[in-house]
Amino acid sequence: MKTKYKKIKKAITNNKRIKLNIIKDEQLAFKSLVVKSTKLPSKLTTIQPIKTVTQKPIDLVIEDKPAKEKYELVEILNKIILGDCLKIMEKMPAECVDMVFVDPPYFLQLPAGRKLLRWSGTEVNGVNEQWDVFKDFEDYDNFTKNYLTIIKRLMKPNATIWVIGMYHNIHRVGKIMQDLGFWILNDVIWFKTNPMPNWLGVRFTNATEILQI
Ligand SMILES: C[S@@+](CC[C@H](N)C(=O)[O-])C[C@H]1O[C@@H](n2cnc3c(N)ncnc32)[C@H](O)[C@@H]1O
Repeated sequence: MKTKYKKIKKAITNNKRIKLNIIKDEQLAFKSLVVKSTKLPSKLTTIQPIKTVTQKPIDLVIEDKPAKEKYELVEILNKIILGDCLKIMEKMPAECVDMVFVDPPYFLQLPAGRKLLRWSGTEVNGVNEQWDVFKDFEDYDNFTKNYLTIIKRLMKPNATIWVIGMYHNIHRVGKIMQDLGFWILNDVIWFKTNPMPNWLGVRFTNATEILQI
């Protein structure tokens, strides 16, 4: 019995594929299993691989549709929802999130009709995408107030929010957050090793962004 046990142990230790018939009332114990092999070790046959449960592919991305009026938490847990986040958040249940990360538009437009030239004379392009265009600071502030208010409804009482921005916009964002009752606990400095160069050589190079938490 002892020899048999050793042979089985050796076969398993050497990762041999063996067939083990599990029977309950035999004396030969191996680890926590009670096992018997009829033809060990000369005719080792295969151990059937543990059947893997075939998992259905998980749909990680949900495409938001206007017809969809409401999301239940179970539908969206660990998913990415593709669409206009302002509309999507309105469809989500209140107090359902623990953490929010926002990288909002920075309103990095150059003043209309103004050009920013590098010392070499070439022109600096601002952010031209429509999502970054606001009429003026008031327009930008209203946008900021709106998304922060929408977000606040989704946050659990002990949730946290991280909003990132840079010197152009982060102070406005911080003021609005405080006005809305967010308690600012930290500002985290993202130190950039590849910042926008100091084109004109007449001011400090700004090499940071700030996360308000
Ligand atoms: C400052 S950028 C952030 C970029 C992003 N962190 C990345 O690394 O690609 C702001 C982003 O917000 C997106 N955005 C603006 N308004 C949005 C909205 N209502 N719904 C979803 N995304 C929006 C823009 O398309 C843009 O990509």
